[in-house]
Amino acid sequence: MRWIAYAAGTLVVLLGGAAGYVYAASNSKADREYDVPLQHMAISSDSAILARGKHLATAITKCVECHSDDLGGKIMIDDPALGVAVAPNITTGGVIANYTDDELVRVIRHGVKRDGRSVIIMPADDYQHLADEDVAAIVAYLRSVPAVDRTSGQTMLRPVGRTLVAANILPLYVAERLDHTRIAPSMMVADTSLAYGEYLANVGGCTGCHGPGLGGGPIPGLPPEAPPASNLTPTGLSKYTDEQLETILRTGGRPDGSSVKQEMPWRYTALMTPLEMRATIKYLRTVPRKEFGTR
Ligand code: HEC
Ligand code: HEC
Repeated sequence: MRWIAYAAGTLVVLLGGAAGYVYAASNSKADREYDVPLQHMAISSDSAILARGKHLATAITKCVECHSDDLGGKIMIDDPALGVAVAPNITTGGVIANYTDDELVRVIRHGVKRDGRSVIIMPADDYQHLADEDVAAIVAYLRSVPAVDRTSGQTMLRPVGRTLVAANILPLYVAERLDHTRIAPSMMVADTSLAYGEYLANVGGCTGCHGPGLGGGPIPGLPPEAPPASNLTPTGLSKYTDEQLETILRTGGRPDGSSVKQEMPWRYTALMTPLEMRATIKYLRTVPRKEFGTR
């Protein structure tokens, strides 16, 4: 998850004289406060719900990919020009100690932190689709994870990062692009229906990376050298049987013997249940065909 700046050099020259403007403009985005009301949700500590939360956080929403397997956080990016992005410690030994349950629900589904400001990078645009029951299970699970005593520092923008943010080239502040009035379902029935397959494709980030229409192409915010996401419509996937597709999602290996690149989180899709796998593949078979690159 690196967002590197190809246009950076040029922009720095162009805007070099406007450092004060850049500083102020990037600060105003970082400091913008979002007035998103808290939604109250009962958080259970029932063992079946904790297990559901754990499964969602690893196999589906993949919180662990950024916040690390023990959820104790890590430095995601440390770039001398762009800055530092830290996925914080989200165990009770870290930032969530200061969060109420309702505030946690809000930061997951709206990308709005306790202080009203936006998170960076975290895909709240995928998580806004999470059903009440599922977001509540994730919060319950976070509260139950063993506390980790680790800090990885602070997120911080350096001059090139600030310039790209000020110029609206780097879409860093997630809350800025969300429809905060969207209503999520209260629950979803976990079955092999197309509705559940679509739900998993949304909250699981397939649409976030492969595009709202799943046509694939460069992933916004990633550097140009990053591999584009593949076409997941029948145009791209009809060459695979369901079994081959499942093998790709479980092992990262294609039938021709090649490997899917690391940017595709197959280590986590590998952990989907057979039912989730069936629902997801069934859904991918039904989406309208799109040309590669049309997202
Ligand atoms: C693609 C990477 C990524 C994923 C996936 C991700 N996060 Fe984050 N998360 C971040 C980053 C980066 C920040 C820090 C944002 C900042 O400093 O503005 C963050 C911030 C947070 C915060 C707020 C901490 C604070 O400082 O106030 C919480 C809580 C959180 N994440 C929980 C989750 C949960 C729960 C999931 C899964 C449902 C998740 N995150 C998935 C990258 C990610
Ligand atoms: C963080 C971004 C990201 C997420 C989330 C993501 N993918 Fe991918 N995926 C990629 C990228 C990038 C590639 C291309 C990898 C390559 O070129 O080897 C890819 C490749 C694939 C491929 C291989 C296609 C082929 O023809 O080789 C399949 C299948 C796939 N993804 C399915 C999914 C599904 C299903 C989901 C949701 C459960 C998903 N992906 C979520 C980034 C992502």
